[in-house]
Amino acid sequence: MCGIVGYVGRRQAESVLLEGLRRLEYRGYDSAGIALPENGGLRVIKTQGRVQDLRDKVEPVTIVGTTGIAHTRWATHGEPSDRNAHPHTDSSGRIAIVHNGIIENADQLRAELIGQGVAFASDTDSEAIAHLIAAALPHTTSLEAAVRSALAQVRGTYGLLVLDADRPDELVVARNGSPIVLGIGDGEMFIASDVAALVHHTQRVVFLDDGEIATVRADEFRTSTVGFDAEHTTKVPTTIDVTAAEYALAGHPDYLRKEIADQAEAVRRALRGRLDHRFATAHLGGLAMDPRELRGVSKVVFLGCGSAYYAGQLGAALVEELARIPATAEPASEFRYRNPVVDPDALYVAISQSGETMDTLAAVQELQRKGGRVIGAVNVVGSAIARQCGAGMFLHAGPEVSVASTKAVTNMAVSFAMLALLLGRVRDLSAADGKRIVDGLHSLPDAIDAVIADEPAIAQIAARFAKAQNMFFVGRVRMWPTAREGAQKLKEISYIHAEAYQGSELKHGPLALIDAEMPSVVLLPDDELLAKNLTTIEQIKARGGAVLAVTNADVPDDCADAVIRVPKTTPELDPIIFTIPLQLLAYHTALTLGRDVDKPRNLAKSVTVE
Ligand code: AGP
Repeated sequence: MCGIVGYVGRRQAESVLLEGLRRLEYRGYDSAGIALPENGGLRVIKTQGRVQDLRDKVEPVTIVGTTGIAHTRWATHGEPSDRNAHPHTDSSGRIAIVHNGIIENADQLRAELIGQGVAFASDTDSEAIAHLIAAALPHTTSLEAAVRSALAQVRGTYGLLVLDADRPDELVVARNGSPIVLGIGDGEMFIASDVAALVHHTQRVVFLDDGEIATVRADEFRTSTVGFDAEHTTKVPTTIDVTAAEYALAGHPDYLRKEIADQAEAVRRALRGRLDHRFATAHLGGLAMDPRELRGVSKVVFLGCGSAYYAGQLGAALVEELARIPATAEPASEFRYRNPVVDPDALYVAISQSGETMDTLAAVQELQRKGGRVIGAVNVVGSAIARQCGAGMFLHAGPEVSVASTKAVTNMAVSFAMLALLLGRVRDLSAADGKRIVDGLHSLPDAIDAVIADEPAIAQIAARFAKAQNMFFVGRVRMWPTAREGAQKLKEISYIHAEAYQGSELKHGPLALIDAEMPSVVLLPDDELLAKNLTTIEQIKARGGAVLAVTNADVPDDCADAVIRVPKTTPELDPIIFTIPLQLLAYHTALTLGRDVDKPRNLAKSVTVE
């Protein structure tokens, strides 16, 4: 949520910063800005709109300098506008800051500063930080000390990057609840809120921890704790295995299409080395739990937000079905606020693609505070949730750039199938059933590719349904989380209102909404509920509603107005396969409607604010 880029080194900073912003734009895209030292002062250029709009403003000017900061914004306080775009400066124009996060006492700080005669130039909560730093400068000996003093007055979350016109060879950066990573180059340093902005420059990185501040120069960085006691911290650079090539579009028109198409390979990566054919089970060494501990798990609780939560619902269904352990899923955003009873014998699973979602991180911290055992199911290595959990399953989906999550969600489901298999096999799941799941998991990549090969037909169906204002997604039991994910994908990128219902619930109310204007997507797996799901289709058709059936059952084409057929795998894994055509349906509906599929309105990729 919001992207930060900083550079100090030997190259012209302007182009490094603009390129970094372009790579981070998926984190926020309502406005953008850049600040560089110039002639003893600062040159700040910012604009409402996309990074390209900023580039159009900056490039004709050409700011010369080898240090600078930049930002792409997702609005929290203050509408998207030129004046609310970052960087923000103090009144003298000496200090510029870019900030991710939320300052909770911003109103109080603003009132106090206005009382002292400070004039504000924006409606943001962030601007106060620039004024506080400027006020502290005359009383301190370093920029870092001034930032430290300012942060002592601030309550809230921040990833903060500060530039001082009087010290053009250094930047100060601080982190509390919003990610900051340093990229270490050869005589140059990169700073970003996400490795995506760094990987085409360097693989050597340092992740700041919450409560850390750093002074960064071209050939060195020094970290310490943010408090006044300023204890030095030791950071050992790590080498990340993500490469710039993984961020390339590789011939696809957009990241969403690329990430949907990547899924077979992503699943292969998630399965690699984790399936045990001999004992028909899974190896998940990252859990750091021996068989006795696995047997001692009394219940499994999955926690995540949005699509990660729906994947958790699927995980809970798989655990109950395969391991016969009670399992539930809950939005992490709600869990942390309801004073949950934490069961010391339960296994809590924190699910997150980004590993930075504030609500999920806070749920992990709340669980740990109460003595709960929590593991991560996280895609981004080195992310806050992965580090906070310390144990878990990496998703190995590769970088996911498009705001709508696809391959990460698929790999969440695959990981939970392996977790359920492992938990089941240390209990009463038979070797024969274990083998069925192992074989099913093995066959998933080919089945995914078979669905993707059907894309032209799905695109035609999407074009037929794209004029709808509202849609139902109907799925029962195992297919219920898939129906919810299908509705989420459609509304997120096409802006068509979509709701998921269990077929069994339709007649208890929602059926009243069915008419010729309200199509339904009905998930029709070849399972024990097939006849009942066919009855649901009849009930919808009898009220004039159009039906798109997604099925792996041997049903006639005329059972619905349109039919998408998917391959059979293993019934427990059907929800994973059924998700893929729903992604393609949403994608092509959005394209038909001319939407920006990678950057849907009002959203951002990782939600690092409440
Ligand atoms: C998915 O398409 C959404 N963009 C969103 O619901 C997302 O899954 C959610 O914000 C959680 O993100 P995370 O996996 O990075 O924690």
